[in-house]
Amino acid sequence: MNRRVVHTRGGPPADVLTVIEEPEPAAPERGQVLIRTSAFPVHPGDLQAVQAYPGNAAQPVPAGLEATGVVEAIGPGTHVAPGVEVGGRVTVFPQPGAWSKWIAADAGVTVAVPDELPDEVAAQLLANPLTVVMLRREAQEHLAFGYDGLLVQTAAGSSVGRLVTGMAQFHNLALVNVVRSERGAAELRKRFPDVPVVSTEHPDWADEVRSVAGGRPVSVAFDPIGGKLAESLLDLLAPGGKLVSYGLIAEEPISVHASTLLSKSLTLRGKNVVGRWPTEASAERRASDVATAKQLALGLTDQFDVAATYGLDELTEAVEHAVRPGKVGTVLIRP
Ligand SMILES: NC(=O)c1ccc[n+]([C@@H]2O[C@H](COP(=O)([O-])OP(=O)(O)OC[C@H]3O[C@@H](n4cnc5c(N)ncnc54)[C@H](OP(=O)(O)O)[C@@H]3O)[C@@H](O)[C@H]2O)c1
Repeated sequence: MNRRVVHTRGGPPADVLTVIEEPEPAAPERGQVLIRTSAFPVHPGDLQAVQAYPGNAAQPVPAGLEATGVVEAIGPGTHVAPGVEVGGRVTVFPQPGAWSKWIAADAGVTVAVPDELPDEVAAQLLANPLTVVMLRREAQEHLAFGYDGLLVQTAAGSSVGRLVTGMAQFHNLALVNVVRSERGAAELRKRFPDVPVVSTEHPDWADEVRSVAGGRPVSVAFDPIGGKLAESLLDLLAPGGKLVSYGLIAEEPISVHASTLLSKSLTLRGKNVVGRWPTEASAERRASDVATAKQLALGLTDQFDVAATYGLDELTEAVEHAVRPGKVGTVLIRP
């Protein structure tokens, strides 16, 4: 039997997600790769999608978008990415219904896992690294990025934030990390001793960022929080600066007076790797981004922390852990 995580309505993920049993998938069709999964990540964004699902569904909605596993079969006449072969390890993203023991995946989102990577990293190979690729591309549109302009990022201790920091160090980009607690700041300082960290626990944290910047312009900010924090980032940006909003952790809206945008010619850009990237990017661009994601995973393997690993029978615990304050790393499920 196959076991799959589904929900039939929106709401708190711990309440609405459930595991169902169903027949194992038949042989893959053209364009599909049949995968026996070994691990999948519970990303905060997966849970937001479940929370926000509108109303009741006529059919169970399969959950999850990323998983790693072993190829059992490839559909007839299917074009696969280099290295994808029967018996080989692969990761899929974005594949709706990835939280399942078996997946008949779209060959177009199935990529081979480099041999050097353990399953724990393979399970996180695409969603977060591709997010970093997307964010970096946004930042690079700013002329000062990589020169005298500074990058500031919030939620810097997150799984995405640690990869952004690793990427910034690799490319020698000036970065100031912002977290919400002194505890989180201490942890990040230990991990990245050369990168300044400021905690919003201090009421004058924005001045601390200015002081660390030492007169250099804050050109770009990455922010997955929104709300009042995003407003403070807009205040911090130098003229011509850009705020890239990529998450909606805060419940309140971003409230910005037009004069803030006009007086400094600011750009406020929302970016989402799910949905836009697969459809907006050409096949060549996607292949190039996947290659960069693999390089990030190989070069920054130590930053792919696993917060904890659960079995499918512990789904509720896994889901609760995935949004626990102070968690470091990604929660995995081994089906
Ligand atoms: N747009 C996209 O395409 C895209 C792609 C990937 C991820 N994301 C988003 O990026 C964010 C990070 O994802 P992740 O997997 O890296 O998350 P994660 O590892 O679970 O980390 C979440 C981080 O958010 C911080 N945090 C939570 N609530 C906060 C609040 N109210 N104020 C300030 N900080 C808060 C936590 O800080 P503590 O350590 O203090 O608890 C933690 O560092 C999520 O919002 C996710 O949805 C977006």
